[in-house]
Formats: sequence, C-alpha cells, structure tokens
Amino acid sequence: MNNFISIKGAKTNNLKNLSLDIPKQQITVVTGVSGSGKSSLVFDTLAAESQRLLNETYSSYIQQLLPHYPQPVFDTIENLPVSIVINQKKIGGNARSTVGTVTDIYSSLRLLFSRIATPFIGYSMVYSFNNPQGMCPICNGLGETKQINLNQLIDFNKSLNEGAIDFPTFQPGGWRLTRYTESGNFDNDKKIQDYSQSELELLLHDIGSAPKNPTKKWPKTSTYIGIIPRITKNFVEKDETKYTKQLNRILEVRECSGCHGTRVNEIVRSAKIDGKSIADCVTMSITELLLFIKHIHSPNVEIVLNDLIKKLESLQNVGLS
Ligand SMILES: Nc1ncnc2c1ncn2[C@@H]1O[C@H](COP(=O)(O)OP(=O)(O)OP(=O)(O)O)[C@@H](O)[C@H]1O
Ligand SMILES: [Mg+2]
Ligand SMILES: [Zn+2]
Repeated sequence: MNNFISIKGAKTNNLKNLSLDIPKQQITVVTGVSGSGKSSLVFDTLAAESQRLLNETYSSYIQQLLPHYPQPVFDTIENLPVSIVINQKKIGGNARSTVGTVTDIYSSLRLLFSRIATPFIGYSMVYSFNNPQGMCPICNGLGETKQINLNQLIDFNKSLNEGAIDFPTFQPGGWRLTRYTESGNFDNDKKIQDYSQSELELLLHDIGSAPKNPTKKWPKTSTYIGIIPRITKNFVEKDETKYTKQLNRILEVRECSGCHGTRVNEIVRSAKIDGKSIADCVTMSITELLLFIKHIHSPNVEIVLNDLIKKLESLQNVGLS
C-alpha cells in the first residue's frame, strides 16, 4: 500500500501507541481538543522523522549545522515522503507590507498611474501610501486606526469615586483621576450612566477648557481635557509601552474613516485610468486586475503594462488569483 503513510505504534509525547494510515495525494485534516496530540503526531512524529531521514543524507559536517529535532518515538513508519512544514505568518510582520508591495506590483501600478492617469498629480512616489505626499493623513497610510472602545474603558454603573475609568492612574488614588475629580466639573459620586449628555461630553470628549469650579487642589494654570483626548494624546499616540496590555484591552482597530482602508489620500484617489483609481485597482482580485490592465491600450507605457501582466499572470499561475 504505497498510497498511505503507514504509522505503527507512535508514542511521541502523549501518543498512546497510535497506529494509523494517512492517505497520500489528498488533504488530511487533523482535529481534536487541545492537548490531544495533533502536533505530537504531525510535527513531532511525522515531520520530525522525515527531517531526520533527510538530514541523514547530508555529510556529518552539514548535519551538525542543521536544526536538531527531538527524537520521535514509534515502531515503524512506511512511505514517509519529504515533509514541508508551512506556518501561516505575515511576511515581515510589517503593517506597511501588502502582497502588492512585496511583489512589486504596487510600484508598477504607481509608475503606470503617474504616466497615464488623469488628472496628472505627480510622479510615481506621490502614489505611495508610504510617502507623506500620498498617504492618508488620518491613518498615516496604514488604512486602519486604533480607537478607544468606550465600553471597555468606562464602567457606566460606577461613579468617578468608585473607579468608573478602568485605566491605570485614572483609578481612585491615581493622580490622573484628580484632574477630573478636582475640576469641579462633576458630581464625583454620580454614576456615569446618570450623567446628562453635556456632562458626558465634557467628561469624555472636551478638547481643552478652564474648569468652572475647581477645588483648591486643582493646579491653577492647568487646562481641563476630556478622558478620550487625554488617553489618546498621552498613551495611544505615544505608544506607551508601560501600558501595552491595558491599551490593547481598550483599543479596537477600525477601518480608517478618512480613506476607507485604501491608505492613500483624496488626491491620489482622484487620479484615474478608465474610471479606476490606484486604490480601486488594489481592491480587485488578481484576475480582475489582469483583465483591467489588458484592456489598457497605450503605447507609451507598453513596458510597464507587460511587466504588470507578467507579474499578475505568475501569481495567477501559482493559484493566488
Ligand atoms: N516536547 C514535549 N515534551 C513533552 N510533552 C509534550 C511535548 N509537547 C507536547 N507535549 C504534551 O503532549 C500532549 C499533546 O500535546 P500536543 O501539542 O501534541 O497537542 P495538540 O493536540 O497539538 O494541542 P493544541 O490543539 O493545543 O495544539 C500535551 O499534554 C503536551 O503537554
Ligand atoms: Mg498543536
Ligand atoms: Zn486613512
């Protein structure tokens, strides 16, 4: 039976003398509750043994340079092919990378747009979301913004004195809370849910005002600032690493309202070829974009067009359309 990887008596980690046949030329999914031994079977037994066999084919000099895997435990494994372990991982992990930038398709598109889009808005660099001239000014070209989720930050059932603001230094005893409780702007024992609309607005969103009735403890020259702009300015924009955990809890990532996730500013989006902007192009599938590019007939940019067609077709050929 060459059509199966045949495993007998696997005992790696927690595996209890497991024997099974895994069909080749098919996709097999291994499922089960956490800790049941999926990784022990797939990675620690099959992949590890395959790697061990492969490593044996190299000279001992090379072998000592290769990564070492713990010894899998089993009686026999037959028909084991060379394994390839694929992990799902973002390329480079940089928020500024996309398939378009990594494959260079985006730079070809920029070149194309700078040459034949109307109106003419500038050269290739202007179309880049990594360039200050091209990026959306709200999200700085990331396409998304981090916003404070009020329900995570404020416990509306509590008053300021009871610790309604669930963030370090804004809790009772924390010095930032005194910027609210000593402002005289609020009844510090009133539950937030009982605040009037204008009180709530003042507590959350005020971008800077003189407090009306501050207590003696209020620093005289100090300006009152609402909680949201305060946390945004002092923690979110500063990327305060001391409070990363607490920030992640109260922040949620949303599509940027300025560019609707397209990363580029209005000027870039105004320049079009056959009614499509560069932002429209990147939302198309590879197949759609290929069709769009093939319909452009402009002898001036033939080299760019052919380059794009070649790159897009190769993505399509490997099944990434
Ligand atoms: N290197 C190891 N040495 C000893 N025990 C291990 C090792 N790796 C895993 N185990 C143990 O083997 C058992 C199965 O773990 P395994 O990682 O294979 O489970 P899993 O099914 O892949 O779980 P998950 O769904 O969480 O990934 C667990 O009890 C685990 O603690
Ligand atoms: Mg696992
Ligand atoms: Zn934006």
